[in-house]
Amino acid sequence: SRSMSRMRALGKFAFRNASTPVAGLRRRESVAYLEIRQTGPLSGTYRVQGSKNAVLPMLAATLLVPGKTTLHRVPKIKDVNVMLEILHLLGCCSCWEGEALTIDAGNVNNWVIPEELIGQMRSSVILLAPILYRMKKAAVVEPGGCSIGRRPIDIHLYVLQALGVKLHYEWEEHIFAQADYFCGAHLFLKFPSVGATEQAILAAVTANGMTVIDNAAREPEISELCRMLRGMGAKITGDQTGRIVIEGVKELFESTCEVGADRIVAATCLSAVAVCSGEITLTGVDASHLNGVIEPFEKMGCKIWSDKDTLTAARMDKLMAIPYLKTSPYPGFPTDVQSLIMAVMSFADGQSVVEEGIFEGRFRTAYQLQKMGAAIIIENNQAIIWGSHLIGTKVEAPDLRGGAALAIAGLGADGVTTIFGYDHIARGYEDLAGMLFMLGAQAALRE
Ligand code: EPZ
Repeated sequence: SRSMSRMRALGKFAFRNASTPVAGLRRRESVAYLEIRQTGPLSGTYRVQGSKNAVLPMLAATLLVPGKTTLHRVPKIKDVNVMLEILHLLGCCSCWEGEALTIDAGNVNNWVIPEELIGQMRSSVILLAPILYRMKKAAVVEPGGCSIGRRPIDIHLYVLQALGVKLHYEWEEHIFAQADYFCGAHLFLKFPSVGATEQAILAAVTANGMTVIDNAAREPEISELCRMLRGMGAKITGDQTGRIVIEGVKELFESTCEVGADRIVAATCLSAVAVCSGEITLTGVDASHLNGVIEPFEKMGCKIWSDKDTLTAARMDKLMAIPYLKTSPYPGFPTDVQSLIMAVMSFADGQSVVEEGIFEGRFRTAYQLQKMGAAIIIENNQAIIWGSHLIGTKVEAPDLRGGAALAIAGLGADGVTTIFGYDHIARGYEDLAGMLFMLGAQAALRE
């Protein structure tokens, strides 16, 4: 159609724009590295940072209001910076005030997610729905796979088409989307994808009519996004049941919202005390978000108890192996804690088995742990781990959570462990070394 060919012409121009490096976006690999020393029993308190996987969809949601939205307890991490770069390129302004971040989306004037940035952070694909809402069109290059898996976006595209979006592919992975408005629909997700559920919600809240999302993801980050959207005037129910029902509204309003604690960062702290023993206190944490995490750590010998927003964890007895543990969608054991618990199991008495049920390639950390002397065999999508004596050495973070897992292993290994690839870790942790240091660990960031 004429509009398609016009968009194709625009799109080519837009993508040429997108692929030319945006000034200042070229990145140097950081030369920083972590230095972790074997540490005895921990003792300390840490207020857990805001959640990376909650704040990213919340930042996308700020585009739904042609005005200001303020988020509190925003973590100062690389992925937030990348999301801000994209929002700025779309025409938004932002302002930090301590941990509070205000986005002014009054003047959105672009519709292309830059290729260079989507490659750095594939979760930015959820910006398609809010950009379509504001600009009636959007362009994105399919993000490639990464170290943990292929990361397809077919469920995102299914959701958008079902809600009335026309998709056009140019040069294979270049996608042009167009919709004058969203139409409510009954969606069934073939897999409870976190990102695709967020994409559906971000489109449905302003759609004409009702939307039902069946087999929706139930992760706490979905509820955080819905809590923020309800505060903006959206009509959403069922966000912890797997069946989300949304009545589209004409417009959303300016609001403020606090980001909840990062449950994976909290699990990282549990991993530290599991390896070192001792007792730690985590504040600002909603223990109900740690469903699927607390039980395995208790099985390994940790004692965990919570009171309001404080969680205390201790390990006094021997660290025990877990015969079998599989990662699965919430409220199961989170895939983001898989590398961490593999590091802990490397010190446990006996044989443990961890099966990765979500991503097809998330065991690269095992090969780095083997360099430290960990006894791990990878068979298909299972890691078989025997407790052994680890010795500190130079290792490379293969991805965000793998980098944190190597730091946890360094706490229990003899001598000093040096972890390179700090750029991966900085994507999700404000200050991993500082956090471990506050819990009593010998950890430092070296430039
Ligand atoms: C989110 O990624 C998190 N990222 C991931 O955390 C987390 O590991 C993952 O959910 C699972 O909990 C953010 O929230 C920013 P999915 P997402 O869509 O949304 C397949 C971290 O370390 N799938 O639930 O990309 C996919 O290939 C990161 O903080 C499709 O097949 O995860 C995977 O096998 C890593 N088609 C499974 O679903 C699609 O269209 C789960 O993916 C989408 C996903």
